[in-house]
Amino acid sequence: MRFAILSDIHANCDALAAVLADVNRQDVQVVVHLGDVVGYNTRPRETLALLREHAIAGVRGNHDLMAIGKLPADQCGPVGRKAISWTRKVLTESDCDYLASLPAELRLAGGMLCVHSALGDPVVRLHSREQFAEEAEVLLQFDAELRVCFTGHTHLAQLVEVGANGVVRRVPAADVELDPEAFCFINPGSVGQPRDGDERAAYAVFDPDTRRLSFHRVAYDARRIMRDNARRGIKIGPRTGATGSLLARLLDAAP
Ligand SMILES: [Fe+2]
Ligand SMILES: [Fe+2]
Repeated sequence: MRFAILSDIHANCDALAAVLADVNRQDVQVVVHLGDVVGYNTRPRETLALLREHAIAGVRGNHDLMAIGKLPADQCGPVGRKAISWTRKVLTESDCDYLASLPAELRLAGGMLCVHSALGDPVVRLHSREQFAEEAEVLLQFDAELRVCFTGHTHLAQLVEVGANGVVRRVPAADVELDPEAFCFINPGSVGQPRDGDERAAYAVFDPDTRRLSFHRVAYDARRIMRDNARRGIKIGPRTGATGSLLARLLDAAP
């Protein structure tokens, strides 16, 4: 069974629709998301409708919690805060119920776990080798059967392998067969707001039976969502955010 892993859609329904069309052309049986379905962009209702229409299960991200008032928005930069404030005004009760229903983590068969960032913490940024090694220990204490953790939040696609000897290896986003001895963290990148300088929507496909992992990019008309955002006073698009510039990184450091 092959899984498509989507993360950080951030209310960009055009990017999500393009990814779902791409997934549909592949041999994928299950689609899951890793949270931050809203925030930043300004099509939250259409995005939530698509997720519900396709019955895509997932977990909650920090922006989802901020949008329903379960997490303070002051960790965000000014653009992120403005977008959350705008989002809160347009979400219906049903939208809020959907966001509130998202679990913190989602266990998948085959020793796989979905979280937004880390277990029990959708805000921390996993970056250093020490953090990944510690998180692998935490996850194995949580469930000794786990072998793969899907994690988003940073908007950057990557594979991190924590070997049986404790050595942490970063593998660039490429098609690869996972080391059967390693504990693997897979970040599919962001559907709605990539931060690696490539505006195409990002996602990953994983087959736990063969351990084959592939990273995918999908082109779509990113100008439309930017126009929608600008019309609503939110000057942000797929190219901006934390890696748009050093200033943007400093101003908007909450993924
Ligand atoms: Fe996040
Ligand atoms: Fe995010």
